[in-house]
Amino acid sequence: MDKIAVLDFGGQYAHLIANRVRRLNVYSEIFDAATPAAKLRGFKGVILSGGPQSVYDKDAIKCDPGILELGVPLLGICYGHQLLAYLQDAKVEPADYREYGLTQIKVLKKEGVFKGLADIETVWMSHGDSVKDLPSGYEVIGQSPGEYAAIANFAKNFYGFQFHLEVSHTKSGMKMLDNFLSICGVKKEWKIDNFIEEEIERARALIGDKKVFMLVSGGVDSTVAFALLGRALGPDRVYGLFVDTGFLRFNEREQVEKSLKSLGFDNLHVKDASADFFSALKEVYEPEKKRQIIGELFLKVQAEVVASLGLNPDEWLIGQGTIYPDTIESGGTKNSAKIKTHHNRVSKIEEMIKQGRIIEPLAQLYKDEVRAVGEKLGLPAEIVWRHPFPGPGLAVRCLCAKQANWPEGFRQLEARLNADVAKHGLTARILPVQSVGVQGDFRTYRHPVALIGDSDFAILDAVATDLINRYTEINRVLWLKAPASIAETDTVSTEQTKMRQVSRNGGLAVTDSYLTRERIALLQKADKIVSQFIEEKGISRQIWQFPTVLVPLSVQGNARGAGEKANASARGAGESIVLRPVESDEAMTANFYRMDLKLLDELIQRLVKIPGISAVFYDVTNKPPGTIEWE
Ligand code: XMP
Repeated sequence: MDKIAVLDFGGQYAHLIANRVRRLNVYSEIFDAATPAAKLRGFKGVILSGGPQSVYDKDAIKCDPGILELGVPLLGICYGHQLLAYLQDAKVEPADYREYGLTQIKVLKKEGVFKGLADIETVWMSHGDSVKDLPSGYEVIGQSPGEYAAIANFAKNFYGFQFHLEVSHTKSGMKMLDNFLSICGVKKEWKIDNFIEEEIERARALIGDKKVFMLVSGGVDSTVAFALLGRALGPDRVYGLFVDTGFLRFNEREQVEKSLKSLGFDNLHVKDASADFFSALKEVYEPEKKRQIIGELFLKVQAEVVASLGLNPDEWLIGQGTIYPDTIESGGTKNSAKIKTHHNRVSKIEEMIKQGRIIEPLAQLYKDEVRAVGEKLGLPAEIVWRHPFPGPGLAVRCLCAKQANWPEGFRQLEARLNADVAKHGLTARILPVQSVGVQGDFRTYRHPVALIGDSDFAILDAVATDLINRYTEINRVLWLKAPASIAETDTVSTEQTKMRQVSRNGGLAVTDSYLTRERIALLQKADKIVSQFIEEKGISRQIWQFPTVLVPLSVQGNARGAGEKANASARGAGESIVLRPVESDEAMTANFYRMDLKLLDELIQRLVKIPGISAVFYDVTNKPPGTIEWE
């Protein structure tokens, strides 16, 4: 079978490249970057992935220079490109002009990998170093404002790209990759059907005569994994366990039960463990701690169910619908940093994986492929096209905080932010809560800043990107599309007064809040309104995922102005909602969704009517630097 080798230099890149190669129906295999070249013989081409380092770092990962002698086409991407140049005696240095995000490049030679491209192409860059001079035998085929964006040695079919062709932001990335695969002369043999067949074989071999206890959530991944294992082992040897954690969406337990049963999954056990979850999470505020507790409790509940059903744990493996991005974000591969621990990657699970007690048939795939497998297995569109929903459910989307938390020197910081945004007619307020984000492949835990006033998404996008790049105290920018986003209360009479209060003296208060049934019920109510709204308006398929987030922040009264004493009106005003719709391709990067402003007003009007909701914010942060979820 023909294959492409992908050398992994860290982060998500190698797997994303493998995903893109599969989309073009070609088999690939991922290798550790330092794999001896001799092992790569027989592959039709080698791709060197990007990675977070610099070739001059003391511990920089290098590959075997022998790959230059394999006689097959090579493609280096970002770090891979710098390393290839370095191995061929070119200079690599910190760039004078660092490029992050979208960049336009001039295509100088429409040959080889650049065959069929336009004169100007939009590509995505994220680099600190760059190649300063050309290795011998090379020419520049693409130029960006800062650098050699692409170089080629046509005689040897070696190519180096400073940008990432594998991310969807690089508009013609798939075309370039397809060109490279044609140069490699690799056969297009990979098909979803082959994947299904191979996975069925692998699962049968791994499971032997044991059975699988599958943790299902009703979401895309676990349902597809359940169906695939059912196909491999027959329905009698796969048992589904659906745990109601208390963090499901409104009426979700009933819906999931109905839909899985209607698909013929009769071996489904439903366990209401919500009381255990709420009590284990009492007074827990820290997001990673919440995730650890939830992940471990999932396992405990599963073990209790196995015991109560009288099953012998030695005869049962645990099945999970883990997909590749879950592993990478949990810091689960070599050279990747922990962004957050996905519920299916807590340490106990890691141990069980080592002992061979876990089966995860989709662990190498991305969502687009999981959906394709689901369609092939005949699952209905409502399941296959459901928006992704995190395993810990609304527990993730319900922010917890003990008290207001302001960054150091926030008054000066806020003054500087305001000086920056005043020209756009906006007011900036730092919010006294923190949430998780991701910057430069690393986790952050920082404050959001709210921009208050009339605006539009193009301005907000530019302002948000600029502010987060310059101020290390913040990792998200929200829009308070005032004044309509703030709920009416008795304490403030006119909209103008409300606005003046919010912008002049803050009126921001945080009440001690952790995960309780009441808060989850409030979030369920808001989430249901949002889900129904996007269905009703026909925009659900334009949106990859739409977290509705509950934040224990009230936006009235004069709590902070009065020396941190939350007054009665502030406390009574309750909590805030953050709307976080995003567009994405595989959830590793995302753009905030630009909702039609009339629709947004209509949605906000529905949400501010919920008793207990004081304001509705709209998240205008892309990923990176914000994550999709809020926690
Ligand atoms: P972030 O928030 O990191 O999320 O941008 C990326 C994708 O992962 C989903 N997510 C999870 N999925 N278990 C899951 O199965 C989890 O613990 C978990 N946490 C985040 C998130 O919804 C998004 O699609």
